[in-house]
Amino acid sequence: MRRMNHAAPVHLLVISGSSRTGSLNLTLARAASRIAEAQGAAVRLLDLRLLRLPIYDGDIEASQGVPAPAGELIDAIVAADAVLLVTPEYNGFPTPLVINAFDWMSRAGASGTRPAGLQATAGKPAGLLSASPGPLGGLRSMNYLRQYLQMAFAMIVHPRQFALSRANQAFDAAGELSDDKAREAVTGVVHSVLQLATALKAARPA
Ligand SMILES: Cc1cc2nc3c(=O)[nH]c(=O)nc-3n(C[C@H](O)[C@H](O)[C@H](O)COP(=O)(O)O)c2cc1C
Repeated sequence: MRRMNHAAPVHLLVISGSSRTGSLNLTLARAASRIAEAQGAAVRLLDLRLLRLPIYDGDIEASQGVPAPAGELIDAIVAADAVLLVTPEYNGFPTPLVINAFDWMSRAGASGTRPAGLQATAGKPAGLLSASPGPLGGLRSMNYLRQYLQMAFAMIVHPRQFALSRANQAFDAAGELSDDKAREAVTGVVHSVLQLATALKAARPA
């Protein structure tokens, strides 16, 4: 895959949506980050689990406001030209970790120079990857995630996506994808998202 040639690098926020140490999706997120860097992107990897957001609770919101880590997520999205979401599926659905973090973010209003959560995501290009030890690799959740991010968050989710099946056998000891076809598929998603981000950056007034 061709290295992208930009005056300024595309800033890619890679988000992992797993709730588990030793996560296959975090491993995939790291591999995708290296691929994006090789394509010239400046990458930040965010493990959503580390934000330690409580489950959405209207009483917490009413008494204390939206928890501060939701603001960290907003800041990370604002700083990025594109987002790559790498998440498992649970029972054919995106993980509660992802939905909860985005739900909290959707409740955050503008504060100082920080935009509201829904302003931060609007028009932001996104790509989807998933990994599972199963035969479908998390594919079943992707349409729900795509709909959620597009319909509720106005994100522009690239049509190209990849679900890594048998992910428990997909990585070598260094965390690299051992199968050429899988690596090409991830590279293709990363390239497509960076290309979309580059085109949108060029089209938008500075
Ligand atoms: C509650 C739950 C539901 C799951 N449902 C699915 C599923 O629908 N499809 C699938 O491929 N794997 C499913 N799995 C297995 C996960 O893909 C597997 O645990 C995977 O390792 C999770 O990703 P991670 O390693 O990044 O945490 C499920 C796991 C859990 C805990």
